[in-house]
Amino acid sequence: MLVLGLETTCDETAAAVVSLGADGRGVILSNEVFSQIAQHSAYGGVVPEIAARAHAEVIDRLTARALSAAGVGFSDLHGIAAAAGPGLIGGVLVGLTTAKTLALVTQKPLIAVNHLEGHALTPRLTDGIAFPYLLFLASGGHTQLVAVRGVGEYLRLGTTVDDAMGEAFDKVAKLLGLPYPGGPQVEREAQNGDPDRFPLPRPMLGREKPDFSLSGLKTALRLEAERVAPLNAADVADLCASFQAAVVDVVVDRTRVGLKLFREAVGHPTALVAAGGVAANGAIRRALSRLAGEAGLRLVAPPIELCGDNGAMIAWAGIERLRLGLSDDMTAPARARWPL
Ligand code: KG4
Ligand code: ZN
Repeated sequence: MLVLGLETTCDETAAAVVSLGADGRGVILSNEVFSQIAQHSAYGGVVPEIAARAHAEVIDRLTARALSAAGVGFSDLHGIAAAAGPGLIGGVLVGLTTAKTLALVTQKPLIAVNHLEGHALTPRLTDGIAFPYLLFLASGGHTQLVAVRGVGEYLRLGTTVDDAMGEAFDKVAKLLGLPYPGGPQVEREAQNGDPDRFPLPRPMLGREKPDFSLSGLKTALRLEAERVAPLNAADVADLCASFQAAVVDVVVDRTRVGLKLFREAVGHPTALVAAGGVAANGAIRRALSRLAGEAGLRLVAPPIELCGDNGAMIAWAGIERLRLGLSDDMTAPARARWPL
């Protein structure tokens, strides 16, 4: 089974071809990503209109490149998948309309994929893990703990009540004068910083429901930064290290509660999974790996290039749906909001 996947929900235009391997995992035949970061960095965040135009400019070429890099043509495909949301609606429309057009012309099934489902199923593409598993999903737009029981069967155990975790990293970077996207920058700075210098809160620690809250932490960091301003390089490094340490504590505590809830509501998880752009963070991965070990579980986290937005995860979600007989028709809507 061979599926083309298109991803255009945020600031990455991506096209990939994935096939279903004999061992049940995915085989990534091509994975083309065009990052728009350079076009947005001057604004310190993603500008929706710029994003939509940039997607429209490159999607055709990128699709052709993904097919030729995979050494396949349209006639070899079994389906055409696109992320139909959630995301910036102009961008979503570019990818979904392209996929609909290709599906119509080639007479192949269309699969309208939830972008979050793409992140959620990636560990099955890379590691072939079985259901059910506990997913910690954190990106620029989402922060959730989800019990993944099957394709399309998601039980949200906890979520953020304010900012998304990636968004918090991005805002902290911005207020410290670091470029967008902030997550990797904050992580790099934190490596040389003292995580104990600034006492920052650990919001939600100990709460019974595994929800997250990040805006108070960000505000506390801003107040500390204002107190010591003007900031020198060591201050920035210490602020980043202190922020990241607080986030790590929150992630571990919330995920521990999520595991407890999972066991009560679903049973024994096959693994703890980390996905989404924030899952690229080494400190978070190491902490989650320790937590998983204590719980007698394995941490499965995709390789860095599959943590951020990509076409392979959309193609793979397309394969997972298609092999269950699930596909969509031309009325599939583009959705700005689409909870898992
Ligand atoms: O999944 P993703 O590529 O796009 C969305 O769907 O949002 O996630 C992007 C987010 C950004 O907020 C970025 O700052 C964050 O993931 N991120 C990180 C790291 N790498 C990317 N956050 C913390 N540490 C990182 N190393
Ligand atoms: Zn994403």
